Amino acid sequence: MKIFTTLIPKEIDCLGDIKLDVIILIDILRASTTLIYALKSGARSIIPASTIEEAYELKRKFMHEKPLLCGERDGLIIPGFDLGNSPTEYTPENICGRMLIYTSTNGSVLMKKAEMLSENVLLMSLINISAVINYVESINAESILLACAGYRGVVSLEDTYAAGLFIEKICKRHTDCILDDGSLLSRILYEKYGENVESVLENAKHARYLGLDLGLAGDLKIAGRIDSENIVPHLIDGEIRVMDRHAFR
Ligand code: MLT
Repeated sequence: MKIFTTLIPKEIDCLGDIKLDVIILIDILRASTTLIYALKSGARSIIPASTIEEAYELKRKFMHEKPLLCGERDGLIIPGFDLGNSPTEYTPENICGRMLIYTSTNGSVLMKKAEMLSENVLLMSLINISAVINYVESINAESILLACAGYRGVVSLEDTYAAGLFIEKICKRHTDCILDDGSLLSRILYEKYGENVESVLENAKHARYLGLDLGLAGDLKIAGRIDSENIVPHLIDGEIRVMDRHAFR
């Protein structure tokens, strides 16, 4: 199994002509984590938008579905939107059965980019790593891209660490993994921290912004719970939906 890792979205453009069986998007703070919570709470579907303008256009397009506008800029709820970007806002009471239109600074932009490259795009966070590995095994993937969202165009410690943890776990199960330099680097980062997520988040710039400046320490706690969820969000035809749980172990 070949594993490629891009640490920032721009790197994807440099990959060339690689055949990929699956692209796994990593934005642990907080897009991937929050959208896993949204699906867990029964969101019917989630439509990513790169910009606020696009989100409003989609709202008009799907007016009959009464979609909720969700997401953030600078970590804060966008004025006029229904929900921000904290996993705790995505409760069954708020969103069960609803269509969500979602835009975020880094995560949703990466989703729009990835959907142009593959029909098999998943969202991963620390909270669903093993579920994603089970899915990857169930389709006998031979070539995987771990695409980190990073933070405002640059590398982020937390997403790189999550890629490293994925690689560590999958390499334990598959001794034939071939890692590119981004994957090797991510794994080395994992080896530094082990499963001490708290320490990763204490050092990560984005985590410090959310926790210290915005008082969102609770979101960091949720995002740090390795393997607490068994949901694999799948980006299909422009919508994020929960992967059929019977499709994999
Ligand atoms: C993003 O996608 O940029 C993040 O989810 C930002 C955030 O923490 O709200």
